[in-house]
Amino acid sequence: MQKRENFGSRFAVIMAMAGSAIGLGNIWRFPYMVGEGGGAAFIIIYLISTLILSMPIFFSESIIGRCAQSGTIGAMEQLAPGSKWKWLGYVTIISPLILVSYYSVVGGWSFEFMLKAFALDFNGSSPEGVKQMFGNFISRDWAPLICHTIFIGLTCLIVLAGVRKGIEAFSKLTMPVLFILIVLIMFYSVSLPGSAEGLQYMLKPDFSKIDGRCITSAMGQSFFSLSLAGNGTIIYGSYLSDKEDTVSSAVTVAVFDTCAAMLAALVIIPAMATTGAILSESGPGLMFISLPYLFKSMPGGSIVMAVFFVAVLFAGLTSLVNLFEAPIAALQDHMHLSRLKAVAIVGGIGVVVAVCIQGIVSPWMDFVSIYVCPLGAALAGIMFAWVWGRQAVEDAVSVGRKTRIGEWYYPLYKYLFCVLTAAVFILGAVNGGIG
Ligand code: PFF
Repeated sequence: MQKRENFGSRFAVIMAMAGSAIGLGNIWRFPYMVGEGGGAAFIIIYLISTLILSMPIFFSESIIGRCAQSGTIGAMEQLAPGSKWKWLGYVTIISPLILVSYYSVVGGWSFEFMLKAFALDFNGSSPEGVKQMFGNFISRDWAPLICHTIFIGLTCLIVLAGVRKGIEAFSKLTMPVLFILIVLIMFYSVSLPGSAEGLQYMLKPDFSKIDGRCITSAMGQSFFSLSLAGNGTIIYGSYLSDKEDTVSSAVTVAVFDTCAAMLAALVIIPAMATTGAILSESGPGLMFISLPYLFKSMPGGSIVMAVFFVAVLFAGLTSLVNLFEAPIAALQDHMHLSRLKAVAIVGGIGVVVAVCIQGIVSPWMDFVSIYVCPLGAALAGIMFAWVWGRQAVEDAVSVGRKTRIGEWYYPLYKYLFCVLTAAVFILGAVNGGIG
């Protein structure tokens, strides 16, 4: 089996995988879902889902990739040669492609807002004013198109530079900066007079808000946040060396990812509370309408806002890089295209689809997190547990560990994680979600 390029160190592995996981899902989506889903009650379900479901699946997906040295299609070709399972692998390639489009749209908005903050060009003198400015921006034909094309262009450049020089180098640089920036803004936010109510909202659970939709959304978000769509984590797993202890890297990435989401909520919800806003009603406009208005009215707020949108941009780019890498690697591995051609094709699809979905980004995102991610993750899990079989799974999981994985692992994975993941998808189809 041909060995492919690996991430260069343990730090690089954690930063690249955390870069994929920490994205717009953490900074844009998680805080408004916490707002709509009853604050701490939503957070508790999200944490339980991350702990017992998405973190173990994250671990399994990275193992599939490392063992197969390939994405999902290649893994199936190698481990079940001649079987029809590889066609399911093709299905899991579609999910990152669906995600790429809306991701670049929201990434493009963040880029525009960052430029506006640096240029002190926020003319909204009321929340309605900022809403209008945002509405004008997304309804102008060319401005959002140019912004998301730039965003996709930046991603293409990073991916084109390769695994080590591109993905790894960019993640190692931006992830620590992102954490520093967001921690600084969090301190600013929680020190504002009136922020305590927001903190209380995040810490005191209101279980009356919990229903089927809320549970499905929290679970879907935990899949989405750890980049579990059946391919993104598998492809980064294929760049792991055999020395890597995947259990500990999965736990570390899940911890970083959860911290990033909580920090973003700690920036946004306490800051919103200072305005007396109804936290459960802010919705997807929270980051692009309510927050800029709020920062604009505060001392030094424009600088804080510019810094905040730099952090959003970094988070979005490192995740989009992962979304690009899965289909690009598939085009290289299975159609033998050069990296340049593969990047051009995926970038082109991203731009075209993004143009078509400008107006429906938030429902599109809900569709992706509730249906596409759990479906992709369930398919990958089922292929892994049912097709590979016990021996192959236990061998793969034990590589890089000091002791062989216990006999408990395989049945737990096969009957608990896979079945529950499929149940999340079915529940989502039945209940829909919030947001
Ligand atoms: N985890 C990313 C976020 O929270 O923004 C989104 C994502 C990236 C989902 C890659 C799926 C994926 F394969």
